[in-house]
Amino acid sequence: MKVSVVGAGNVGATCANVMAHKELAEEIVLIDIKEGLAEGKALDIWETSPINLFDSKTIGATNDYSKSAGSDVVVITSGLPRKPGMSRDDLIATNAGIVKSVTENVIEHSPDATIIIVSNPLDVMCYCAYLTAKIDSSRVFGMAGILDTARYRAFLATELKVSPKDIQAVLMGGHGDTMVPLPRYTTIAGIPVTELIETSVLDGIVDRTKKGGGEIVNLLGTSAWYAPGAAAAQMVESIVRNQHRIFPCCAWLQGQYGMKDLYLGVPVKLGKSGIEKIIELQLNDSEMELLNSSANAVKEVMGVLDGMDVF
Ligand code: NAI
Ligand code: 2OP
Repeated sequence: MKVSVVGAGNVGATCANVMAHKELAEEIVLIDIKEGLAEGKALDIWETSPINLFDSKTIGATNDYSKSAGSDVVVITSGLPRKPGMSRDDLIATNAGIVKSVTENVIEHSPDATIIIVSNPLDVMCYCAYLTAKIDSSRVFGMAGILDTARYRAFLATELKVSPKDIQAVLMGGHGDTMVPLPRYTTIAGIPVTELIETSVLDGIVDRTKKGGGEIVNLLGTSAWYAPGAAAAQMVESIVRNQHRIFPCCAWLQGQYGMKDLYLGVPVKLGKSGIEKIIELQLNDSEMELLNSSANAVKEVMGVLDGMDVF
């Protein structure tokens, strides 16, 4: 197996590091446009191999996609991150150009790759990569739901003083403030969360989850990388190990949930062919209303991309 990560910044390098620790591929290639950055980070990760005991080889390259040729999976993290006061959507003009040119290079050198998008604004960058790659949508999708759900689960673990390992949850919608955490599908070791926590406290956690990205931006001055990098690596793991795991991912909808021609966060099954199935939950009216309003927010930003004359 060969996995490449484009963008050797905070998220890309973290993702490569986690994948190396888990030995998810024989070769893990990092690519960045900034001279020497990918080579330096790949070498630094490789130098941890005798300490952390892995033999996945990590290789870096400055804008040389021939090094990534024949990758089975490519994770795209290239692009600007948010700064305080910015929304993810503010990144669209710059990041659409970056994601388009990177996807062209990826497809030229790795035509059979499954592509995982991380760059923001996530849902619309998936759309941008899909329009560029011209491959089946089961092989172009995005990472956001695992991160957002992980935040929700971590906050619940802190509040309930339980292990995060015991918390299962689903979250849907766009990767933005309109995301839809689903308390009805949240359990603590099989126990519905609503039996263990007061509604007002749960509402507060849902609200904090929706603003979870901004909370980190305000603390750090840039966006998060440990959880996003680990989340992208978890998606790669399910693909390269053909685990058929179910995760919320940003997928191209073609009629599911009554929606068509848009990328949105939904539960999917991930295996060696990418998205094997989009799972349709029986949402109630209020959950469906929230999902629709999140879809409308994503559609608005997709419209911005459509109007940018990039394609
Ligand atoms: P960063 O600034 O640390 O790294 C981005 C890297 O992309 C830089 O090293 C830069 O040189 C590189 N780059 C820029 N243009 C390039 C090109 N044309 N080809 C190759 N490399 C190029 O940023 P960070 O924190 O790693 O975030 C990366 C992206 O991921 C941002 O857009 C951020 O908003 C997004 N993000 C998305 C998350 C999600 O849940 N989907 C979570 C966290 C970040
Ligand atoms: C995050 O949620 C900014 O998308 C990034 O951390």
